[in-house]
Amino acid sequence: MKKVSLGIAGLGTVAQGVLEIIANNRALIAQRTGIEFTVARVASRRPKPEVALAGAQFSTQLSDLYEDPEVDVVLELIGGETVAYAFMQAVVAAGKPLVTANKAVIAAHGNTLLSLRPDAAVRFEAAVAGAIPIIQAIQQGLVANRFEYVVGIINGTCNYILTAMQAQGAAFADALQTAQALGYAEADPTFDIEGIDAAHKLAILLSLAFDRPFNFDDVYVEGISEVTSADIEYADQLGYKIKHLGIARRTDQGLEARVHPTLVPKSQLLASVNDVLNAVLVKSDAAGATLYCGPGAGGAATASAVMADVVALASQESTPRYRPEAAQSELQMVPIESVQSAYYLRIPAQDQPGVFASVAKALSQHGISIEAAIQKEAQGGQALVDIVFLTQMTRELEMTAALAQVQNMPEVGGPLSRIRLETLD
Ligand SMILES: NC(=O)c1ccc[n+]([C@@H]2O[C@H](COP(=O)([O-])OP(=O)(O)OC[C@H]3O[C@@H](n4cnc5c(N)ncnc54)[C@H](OP(=O)(O)O)[C@@H]3O)[C@@H](O)[C@H]2O)c1
Repeated sequence: MKKVSLGIAGLGTVAQGVLEIIANNRALIAQRTGIEFTVARVASRRPKPEVALAGAQFSTQLSDLYEDPEVDVVLELIGGETVAYAFMQAVVAAGKPLVTANKAVIAAHGNTLLSLRPDAAVRFEAAVAGAIPIIQAIQQGLVANRFEYVVGIINGTCNYILTAMQAQGAAFADALQTAQALGYAEADPTFDIEGIDAAHKLAILLSLAFDRPFNFDDVYVEGISEVTSADIEYADQLGYKIKHLGIARRTDQGLEARVHPTLVPKSQLLASVNDVLNAVLVKSDAAGATLYCGPGAGGAATASAVMADVVALASQESTPRYRPEAAQSELQMVPIESVQSAYYLRIPAQDQPGVFASVAKALSQHGISIEAAIQKEAQGGQALVDIVFLTQMTRELEMTAALAQVQNMPEVGGPLSRIRLETLD
């Protein structure tokens, strides 16, 4: 039986998940792969006597992991950008195979990291959508396909909050507080709720599916903090759910990459993916639409993806390796101003005759056609009532200009809501 020793950097949620999988499933993995995995070393900034290290030697020196000839594969499970990136560079430079769950480093520095050595062996399945083997699906299962789009719910915190707002009619701030109390959102939730985490993941999916170097700046980013419970309710009445989606899509104009709240028809499977679950819908020319769903986070779930990478590297599988130098798609990125989308609009306006018609006229002056509308009756003494529109496909540029005009109308008060709509046909 082949023996492979691991060196693990970090001793947090995911690292402990890996230690548990090895403790519980070592024999099963050996039976399936012919490889017996042991953990030779764990290095982290402080020891945790309460965590069983499966016989591994503990140190506070990360360099012990790549300097020890006994360590065959190094796992970077520290997180963050600075220390983790320096460590990962050192691991690759030392010629050790590397597995990471770090989306921020791959999205921002993946090209450099993977080009440090021609034989760099770096895998990062756990960096996108936790337990879901989406990178394997794109790089292996669907390798013979030309991709049309990769669209996903790829941030569990956002999905939890939007689901709670939908199910309980909760306000954004209350749903966030519950998510924090349950451990689904960090004390500082900015990365998740402002869409940055999802954008890191989408940047990785975009590169792999559309053969481009990693470039976080390719992704247009909006979070969910502006979504109100009124928007969720109106969307529901119109037959939609609001999801925070990452969208990477090939169009006639080029490639779109954007993360933002999105109206999705209730009949679309993605609309039923709730709570902290993640899901990715991939449309490609030969396979058609395929959907992948599962836990996007959690120690054991993420460790499951980490171990898949460990097994692949240890068995020296010749899976298609992402090579930035070979990623030379001729497709240009489409700037967000040129992106075409249908829209949901909520416009708080005075309850007077003719206001609906004036707003509709302002939209039509910018070439925007209305698909559906709701106009609420004023409830006793209410000064402003919501006018809600679903529009037909419109360019972002025209929509922005139209909304600037509408916002300045004397009959319109309060902030407008503008949320893109995707049917994902
Ligand atoms: N948690 C998830 O569900 C999940 C899902 C997908 C991907 N990921 C990714 O997996 C990675 C690890 O996440 P995690 O949730 O396991 O994080 P975590 O629980 O915060 O664990 C990080 C570990 O690294 C240690 N550490 C941090 N900075 C260090 C430094 N400068 N030097 C040495 N050790 C250091 C921490 O030490 P202390 O113990 O002293 O804090 C901790 O043990 C991240 O890249 C994350 O984005 C996580």
